[in-house]
Amino acid sequence: MASSSCAGLSLLLLGCALAASPPQGGSNSPQAWPEAAGHQPDKSSSAEGRKLITEDVTVVEGEVATISCRVKNNDDSVIQLMNPNRQTIFFRDSRPLKDTRFQLVNFSNSELRVSLSNVSLSDEGQYVCMLYTDPPQEVYTNITVLVPPHSLTIETEKETAMEGEEIELNCTAMSSKPAATIRWFKGSKELHGQLEVEHSEAVLFMVTSRIMLKVGREDDGVPVVCSVDHPAVKDLETQRYLDVQYKPEVLISVNYPQGITREGEPLELTCTVLGKPKPDHINWIRVDDDLPAHAIVSGIKLLINNLNKTDNGTYRCGASNAVGDSHADYKLYVYDPPTTLPPPTTTTTTTTTIPIIITETTLMKEPDVYDSQAGEEVPSVDHAVIGGVVAVVVFAMLCLLIILGRYFARHKGTYFTHEAKGADDAADADTAIINAEGGQSNSEEKKEYFYLNTPWVPTRCPTADSYWPPAPPPFRG
Ligand SMILES: *[C@@H]1O[C@H](CO)[C@@H](O)[C@H](O)[C@H]1NC(C)=O
Ligand SMILES: *[C@@H]1O[C@H](CO)[C@@H](O)[C@H](O)[C@H]1NC(C)=O
Ligand SMILES: *[C@@H]1O[C@H](CO)[C@@H](O)[C@H](O)[C@H]1NC(C)=O
Ligand SMILES: *[C@@H]1O[C@H](CO)[C@@H](O)[C@H](O)[C@H]1NC(C)=O
Ligand SMILES: *[C@@H]1O[C@H](CO)[C@@H](O)[C@H](O)[C@H]1NC(C)=O
Ligand SMILES: *[C@@H]1O[C@H](CO)[C@@H](O)[C@H](O)[C@H]1NC(C)=O
Repeated sequence: MASSSCAGLSLLLLGCALAASPPQGGSNSPQAWPEAAGHQPDKSSSAEGRKLITEDVTVVEGEVATISCRVKNNDDSVIQLMNPNRQTIFFRDSRPLKDTRFQLVNFSNSELRVSLSNVSLSDEGQYVCMLYTDPPQEVYTNITVLVPPHSLTIETEKETAMEGEEIELNCTAMSSKPAATIRWFKGSKELHGQLEVEHSEAVLFMVTSRIMLKVGREDDGVPVVCSVDHPAVKDLETQRYLDVQYKPEVLISVNYPQGITREGEPLELTCTVLGKPKPDHINWIRVDDDLPAHAIVSGIKLLINNLNKTDNGTYRCGASNAVGDSHADYKLYVYDPPTTLPPPTTTTTTTTTIPIIITETTLMKEPDVYDSQAGEEVPSVDHAVIGGVVAVVVFAMLCLLIILGRYFARHKGTYFTHEAKGADDAADADTAIINAEGGQSNSEEKKEYFYLNTPWVPTRCPTADSYWPPAPPPFRG
C-alpha cells in the first residue's frame, strides 16, 4: 500500500511538473537547453541558487553503472531519476520501477545516487535527473555501454607454408562496441595489416584485419600475434605459431684426418642435415663415379679406410624432403704417404702455416665444398719464391749502381759542354745563357754530349741481356 501510494504521488507530481514546464513537454531534448548537461539554466527566482548536476557514465557491458543526481544548496525539493523512456526509477528513495538491478547507493537532501548492475546494451540512453523546483529542473546523463569483442580469431588458408610462400592471415574481432582496432606482430616486430570494418549487428562491429606474410625458414615456430585495442578490454590478443617447411640444409664435416688426406690413412665424413619436414632420405655418392669398393656408408657417415689415390674425386651427400633436394660436396685428393715426402727444410715454419690459411680461405668461399688438395705444393713454391726474390734484389741493385754512375758522369759532362756551347755561339753573356737553356731542352743534343764524355755508359737502364757481358770498369771492384 505504501509503495503504490508513493508511486501514485510521484506520477501526480510528475504530471504537475510536466504541466508546469514549457510547451516542449516530452520532447525535451538537450538541444532545448543551450547549456551543456549538468548546467541547468536558472529560469525562475524560486530555483535560484539551487543547481542540479550529473555526469555521463560509460560502462562495460555486464558491469555496474552508477548514476548520481546532485543538488547544490538544496532546500527540501524532491530529486527524481528517470530512464530514457521517462519512467521513474527513483523518486526520492523509493523505486517505482520493478527492475531490481537499480539500487539506491546514497540518498540525502543533496544527492540521489543509484547503481545499475549487469548493464546491457539496452540500458544505453539518456537518463534524466529532475529537481522539483518551480519550474522543475532537468539534466541529462547519458549511459554509454561498451561491448568488448566477443571473440578474437586468426584464420589462415593453410596450417603450414613452404619457405618463400606468401600466406594470408585474417584476424577477426567479433561484436564489439565501438569498433576494435587490430594490430599485428610477428615476434616483437609490428606488421601492418589491411583493415576491413563490417557491421555485424545494429550497434556492434565486426572488424577483420588481413595481412600477407612472406615466410622464410627463420619464421618457423615464430608466433604471429593479433592484438586488440579497445576501451573495454586490456591485453586482448591471440596468436598463431607459424609452421614453415623448408628444404634440407646439408653440411659435410670431416671427422678425421685433421690435415692432409694421405694414401693408406682412413677418412671419415659426417653429413649433417637440417630440414622441415625432417629429410627422410640421405645418401652418399661419388660424382661421376661409383663409391670405392672399400668405402663404408653408415647412415650420415662415410668411412674410407686405407685411402688410395684411385679414391680421388668429389663425394656428395644429398638429402631430400617434401620441399626439395639439397647436397654438399667434398673433394678428395689422396696424397703420397708421409714417408715419401722430402725431409723438412729450413722453411718449415712457412710450409706449416700456409696450408692452414689457404684451407680457411677455401672454406669461406665455398662452404659446401671441402677440398683436401690445399697446400700440397708448398715446398717447391718456396724455392721458386726465394730464388725469384734474390734475383730481383740483385738485379735492382745493379740497376741502381748504373743509374748512379750515369748520374755522376752526366753532371760532369753537362756542365762542361753547356758552358762551352753557350759561350762559343753567343755574342754576349745573356745570349749565352739563353742558348744554354735552349740547348738543355733538346735531348738529342744532350745525348750526343753524353756519348762524347762518357762513352762507356748506355743511355738507358740496360736489360739483363744487354747488361751482363761488359761490366763497367769504374764500378767493378
Ligand atoms: C552519501 O553521501 C554523503 C555526502 O556525499 C556521504 O557523507 C555519505 O557517506 C554517503 N553515504 C554512502 C552510503 O555512500
Ligand atoms: C545479466 O543480464 C543478462 C541479460 O542481459 C542475463 O542473461 C544474465 O543472467 C544477467 N546476469 C546476472 C548476474 O544477473
Ligand atoms: C546523449 O544522448 C543523446 C541521445 O542518445 C544524444 O543526442 C546526445 O548527444 C548525448 N550527449 C552526450 C553528451 O553524449
Ligand atoms: C580473409 O578475409 C577476406 C575478406 O575479408 C577473404 O576474402 C579471405 O578469404 C579471408 N582469408 C582467410 C584465410 O580466411
Ligand atoms: C691402390 O689401388 C690399386 C688398385 O686398386 C692397388 O693396385 C694399389 O695397391 C692400391 N694402393 C695402396 C697403397 O693400397
Ligand atoms: C689423386 O690426386 C693426387 C693429388 O692431386 C694426384 O697426385 C694423384 O695422381 C691423383 N690420382 C688419381 C688416380 O687421379
